[in-house]
Amino acid sequence: MTDNYTQFANRGLGKKVTKKLGLPQPAILRRYQPGQALITGPILVQGSTAGADALAASLLSWDLDVRRHAVPREKLGAIVLVLDELDRPEDLEGPVLAAASSLRDLSPSARVITLSRPAANSADPSQAAARQGVDGFLRSLAQELRSGATGNGILLADGVTATSPSALAAVRFFLSGRSAYVDGQFLTVTSPDGTLPADIGQPLAGKVAVVTGAARGIGAAIARTLHRDGATLVLVDIPAAGDHLAAVANEVHGTALQLDISREDAGQRIIDHAVQRHGHLDIVVHNAGITRDKLLANMDHARWSSVINVNIAAQLRINEALLASEHFRTSPRIVSVASTSGIAGNRGQTNYAASKGGVMGMVRASAPLLAENGGTINAVAPGFIETDMTARIPVALREAGRRLNSLRQGGQPTDVAEAIAFLASDAAGGINGVVLRVCGQNVVGA
Ligand code: NAI
Repeated sequence: MTDNYTQFANRGLGKKVTKKLGLPQPAILRRYQPGQALITGPILVQGSTAGADALAASLLSWDLDVRRHAVPREKLGAIVLVLDELDRPEDLEGPVLAAASSLRDLSPSARVITLSRPAANSADPSQAAARQGVDGFLRSLAQELRSGATGNGILLADGVTATSPSALAAVRFFLSGRSAYVDGQFLTVTSPDGTLPADIGQPLAGKVAVVTGAARGIGAAIARTLHRDGATLVLVDIPAAGDHLAAVANEVHGTALQLDISREDAGQRIIDHAVQRHGHLDIVVHNAGITRDKLLANMDHARWSSVINVNIAAQLRINEALLASEHFRTSPRIVSVASTSGIAGNRGQTNYAASKGGVMGMVRASAPLLAENGGTINAVAPGFIETDMTARIPVALREAGRRLNSLRQGGQPTDVAEAIAFLASDAAGGINGVVLRVCGQNVVGA
């Protein structure tokens, strides 16, 4: 769907009118294209710990223009705040105020990234307060940034440093145009595992990936993005969507499997197809999902059970088959599509929100099972994304959904796909059991 307002607000007259009237001013976001520079302009790395020094050295080794001190009035592509040794709330002031003086120098679509430690991992009240403070600080700062700039945080679990493979991969993801619509979020690096790809442009080379619900919308975008990143694809959708499914499969040189994922034998059918046609199976993306909205007072069995069945029960059954299969044991990856409705709730979506909350619970509890074979399972929770699903929302609600986030616009299917491709990669091998929101810092579920 086209967002005509965003187009208008970025043209000469539209820019002036929207500014004068105090209307939302959505920027044209810098989205990833192959060959694109990681970031536009120098990166300022703030922080005086050994972690800050090591991270600055790693960024330098990527041929980036790294500053350890701000140069007055120099335009910046990013500010990275390394806050990995906070012990008291007062410790935050030095690095934060040092960064503050550079905020006006950020370029359009610039990045602010924090690296800190999870508050939940500390039993010391003062340390936990300092760590939790980063959460409130970053989420507020992300709301203050303008012109498509975003702010996100990386949480380093015990045993993880700022230069552990998945921490570096997360820094790379947040710096790049791949994270254009991720804003105000924290991503936890749970272990020092993960391997950085030999070929940055094809991080999924040699992998066989299954994507459910791939005939259109977000699923088709996931298929295109995983293909671009080097994966071989098996695309699944219901028989009624067979024509569209075949078209997407042709486009990405993959194979199509017409299958209703809520069938009892869906997991085995997927494994058999992948192994027979492509020899192995490495990545499964649970994207297929449906809505059957009604206020709970008007909810019936068909609406409730179909949503629970397709959106979560089917995923649980398929995962059970995958975990039991000898063909899914070499660093397997599962990524599920949840929703911000499952975090914050949404009027008229009790069934859908229960199913998507279920996805997040399932991911957390399944993480240790995947870890047994060096694998991971994570979820991406999209906010308002421009697809057929959201095109059906009544116009006033749709417009509210689009604007009620820090970036003042809806996301594109490709924004969700980029986050999934990242979590499916070997570089994200140290990220397990987490949920990443792709919502432009939606006020729903903040
Ligand atoms: P969509 O309705 O455009 O596409 C969903 C696809 O899943 C369709 O091709 C459909 O045929 C397929 N599908 C449905 N039931 C199936 C089944 N039983 N077996 C196999 N395939 C099945 O939806 P959209 O917007 O692309 O959403 C994709 C995922 O993202 C869903 O899980 C949805 O809940 C989630 N999501 C979407 C948001 C949005 O703003 N569009 C926001 C948050 C989450």
